[in-house]
Amino acid sequence: MRIVLGVSGGVAAYKAVLLLRLLREEGHRVRVVPTASALRFVGAPTWEALSGEPATDQVFEDVEHVPHVALGQGADLVVVAPATADLLSRAATGRADDLLTSTLLTARCPVVMAPAMHTEMWEHPATVANVATLRARGVHVIEPASGRLTGADTGPGRLPEPEDIARVALGIATGADVADPPPGGGPASAQDLAGLRVVVSAGGTREPIDPVRFIGNRSSGRQGVALARAARARGAHVTLVAANLDAQVLEDGAPTAHAGTVPAPGMEVVPVETTAQLREAVRAAAATADVVVMAAAVADFRPASAPDAKIKKVPGQGPAPIVLVENPDVLAELAHERLRADQVVVGFAAETGDGHGSVLDHGREKARRKGADLLVVNAVGDGRGFGVDVNDVTVVDGAGDVVATASGTKRDVADAVWDAVVTRTGAGSR
Ligand code: CTP
Repeated sequence: MRIVLGVSGGVAAYKAVLLLRLLREEGHRVRVVPTASALRFVGAPTWEALSGEPATDQVFEDVEHVPHVALGQGADLVVVAPATADLLSRAATGRADDLLTSTLLTARCPVVMAPAMHTEMWEHPATVANVATLRARGVHVIEPASGRLTGADTGPGRLPEPEDIARVALGIATGADVADPPPGGGPASAQDLAGLRVVVSAGGTREPIDPVRFIGNRSSGRQGVALARAARARGAHVTLVAANLDAQVLEDGAPTAHAGTVPAPGMEVVPVETTAQLREAVRAAAATADVVVMAAAVADFRPASAPDAKIKKVPGQGPAPIVLVENPDVLAELAHERLRADQVVVGFAAETGDGHGSVLDHGREKARRKGADLLVVNAVGDGRGFGVDVNDVTVVDGAGDVVATASGTKRDVADAVWDAVVTRTGAGSR
């Protein structure tokens, strides 16, 4: 998601630094737009270093890109934290006297403001009226917390904790947790998957050897979860078949997660462990799905049998061999059977390249062999692909022709995959 983080001039600007980190760690692109007084509290180098993007209050910089219009137009979410009494006043009266207020006038995405000020300022009739005006226009103004303010005083006016602001703002942007949908407000991000039912498998399957041991793989589930979240943000109904996701993946940007089960609001999650369970869950959901994305690393083989009791080591005897049998290929089955007409089936191929061909050669061959409509090919090994938050992929079609390439965070890659799906289905034009 592209997020504009507006910061106005209050001591609580330091908390916006933490908010920026949270949003970045979740894989969002964040452009910080501070006001001139915010820059007196926290300087541009801090914002720029943590966001990787320029941070200025000026409309006369970088004018060839028309930033006072482009930033708001291109944002999927605008969060202003802290929003001072002055910023609320300028926003309520439609001023456009710096980059942040201009951005607020051009944004058509959800806008969330987290006010912070002294209690007297918050309770002043002018501020009360400004907040009412903004809310009537669809801006989501978060109630400030009560507690210790800048000096010795306490009362309502304290900036909520960054985690809470992130939770509310992202919940609104993904279309969930919205207490008061903005009247006439724009969608969270391009809703080009609205009305589609999608199934995403994520993580890696585990095949039991006995009750305590298994054969598994190094997939964390990051890419699959990013795909599921992106689809949700773009309006799809999402079923996530979650195979042994890393606990960290669930915590990252899972503001409303119920420990370990719900990686994003408004998503159906089916936890599975083995390939057999994954196959059953994916096929059940695929029966009514428009798109199936097999991002999970599925074990090709499983132990032929797994005793109910732990296998004991017998001193002096070598290890008993583990006999493996082949698992069904869930992706190939779906691609060949076509449980639903017009269903788009997307696979992933994690490749290393070898003496027989490059990463892309193997990907192309796999696309043809598996019969998927799209295959997302990525290079793994040497620290690439698994467990990290960046990815670099080539999307090929069923004939092995390249239809897209993408690199960046797993969320960027997820959006590129959905773009390829939209191109294929024409979903966005319905
Ligand atoms: N896949 C599947 N069922 C399997 C194995 C893989 O559905 N039993 C899916 C994966 O979810 C992925 C795609 O197939 O979308 C490619 O997985 P990969 O392991 O790269 O393919 P393999 O067929 O196992 O090929 P390889 O010989 O490279 O292991």
